[in-house]
Amino acid sequence: MKRFGLIGFPLSHSFSKKYFTNKYEQEGILDCKYELFPLESIDQFPDLLKSHPDLVGLNVTIPYKEQVLKYLDEVDAGAAQIGAVNTIKISKGRLKGYNTDVYGFEQSIRQFVLKNGIDNIENALILGTGGASKAIEYVLEKMEIEYTLVSRNVKKGVICYHDLNASVISNIQLIVNTTPLGMSPNEHSYPELPYSSLNEKHLLFDLVYNPEKTVFLRKGEEQGAYILNGHEMLIGQAEKSWEIWTNKNAN
Ligand SMILES: NC(=O)c1ccc[n+]([C@@H]2O[C@H](COP(=O)([O-])OP(=O)(O)OC[C@H]3O[C@@H](n4cnc5c(N)ncnc54)[C@H](OP(=O)(O)O)[C@@H]3O)[C@@H](O)[C@H]2O)c1
Repeated sequence: MKRFGLIGFPLSHSFSKKYFTNKYEQEGILDCKYELFPLESIDQFPDLLKSHPDLVGLNVTIPYKEQVLKYLDEVDAGAAQIGAVNTIKISKGRLKGYNTDVYGFEQSIRQFVLKNGIDNIENALILGTGGASKAIEYVLEKMEIEYTLVSRNVKKGVICYHDLNASVISNIQLIVNTTPLGMSPNEHSYPELPYSSLNEKHLLFDLVYNPEKTVFLRKGEEQGAYILNGHEMLIGQAEKSWEIWTNKNAN
């Protein structure tokens, strides 16, 4: 039996466990099992590895995507640049980290833009400066989309929510929410934006996927903007993790 799983804390609502358990059932994969490993502290990670020598792959979620780096033998180039890992491949006792959020986001936005005939996106705002925002920065750089980070706190090279006036919004095409605002059970929360300045030339991408339509997306839709939630990104990152774990050539 090959054991896979998810580390994070808390892990009450896990998409990954449901996704992989269904996948194994539907694709007749009988020798794999996916489990949840809630760790109260990342210090418990070495003991988890010792007590489960059959572990071959892990996903990593909040709050350990950055903290887990120090336990890895190797980190692939993209994940190293981002400074966050959401996938670990364990082979012959060696741990290598990857970031497949990058792949999920890029695939999802490229497909959406193509399907909807959206013109070349030139600039973006990224709301939030946590782990996920770094993956989005990486993809936007790759796609040659200029971006500005928006934070609750004043930091170098970052603007604050109160800087977001009608003129800033009207000069931007893409807004990506990488904050947990709007995520169940806090469905009523949303990022503070001048929503009335949005129109049909904007695309709002919410990394949140539960609920399907957050207040952020609903307010954008009301102004005629294109909206996209984090569901396809989630599937994309999960499938990329699976490819890494099972492809002997993935290094
Ligand atoms: N769809 C997918 O595949 C996918 C993949 C990864 C993550 N996600 C989702 O993306 C979200 C963020 O993940 P993450 O790992 O980056 O989380 P995170 O590290 O906890 O932080 C996100 C950032 O959001 C901002 N933030 C946090 N609480 C806030 C609040 N109450 N009001 C305004 N801003 C707040 C903070 O930035 P500032 O301090 O700079 O304001 C924080 O650094 C989560 O909802 C996660 O589920 C989805």
